[in-house]
Amino acid sequence: MKIIMLGAPGAGKGTQAVKLSEKYCIPHISTGDILRTNIKSGTELGKRVKAFLDNGQLVPDELVIDLTIDRVKRDDCKRGYILDGFPRTIPQAQEFESALENDGEKIDYIIDIEVPDENIIQRMSGRRTCSHCGATYHILHNPTKIEEICDSCGKRIELRDDDKPETIKKRLVVYHEQTQPLMDYYTIKGNLVKIDGTLGIDEIFNSIVEILGE
Ligand code: AP5
Ligand code: MG
Repeated sequence: MKIIMLGAPGAGKGTQAVKLSEKYCIPHISTGDILRTNIKSGTELGKRVKAFLDNGQLVPDELVIDLTIDRVKRDDCKRGYILDGFPRTIPQAQEFESALENDGEKIDYIIDIEVPDENIIQRMSGRRTCSHCGATYHILHNPTKIEEICDSCGKRIELRDDDKPETIKKRLVVYHEQTQPLMDYYTIKGNLVKIDGTLGIDEIFNSIVEILGE
């Protein structure tokens, strides 16, 4: 089962992708996580993309397209995968699709988690992430068991570098300008499913599972 998760920054793509990955035993592939790991370990790619992430801009298409195509060709993706944060532009969608078509493959579900902008700022300013293992929490909606300590790996959780209010606003503008056109693109193709992202984490998960099947 191959799934794309769409939605504004902070819509809950990562939160749902982690749960779906556990349920269906397929990898969760977040381009944002891959880029942040590269920045943290100081790779050439990390150096090239850092300023884009810090400023809430998208990194150039050519840097994420090949990276994602290579990632889904790995052995662990044979039974499917969940893409979180890719594609984010029409050229990314088109190039990815043609790469899949060349291998006789296609995406099965495109899930758009819809959350109005006014909810996003509150969600993002309450988000805390573990820079060690990438786990995501929310101070009110999904707190850690021990304050400020990651449930999964025991390291300290922190505010993501791009979760400052000014950068969140910029990311929302970028989303509306560059990523929202994908909704029309996939609606025309006929495989877009819209989910109400204002519900609770478990309710959203259950409505996605209803669509994907047990
Ligand atoms: P990326 O890491 O993908 O960030 P994003 O799209 O901005 O999305 P987020 O990770 O911020 O939000 P999310 O939807 O995963 O929400 P989450 O589950 O954490 O990308 C970062 C950057 O990398 C981009 O700005 C760009 O520079 C670059 N990049 C990445 N991919 C790229 C691409 N393809 N092309 C070009 N550039 C690319 O939830 C948010 C918070 O809300 C959490 O605290 C969570 O606990 C809480 N929450 C979740 N669900 C609920 C709920 N139902 N109710 C209440 N709270 C909830
Ligand atoms: Mg995310």
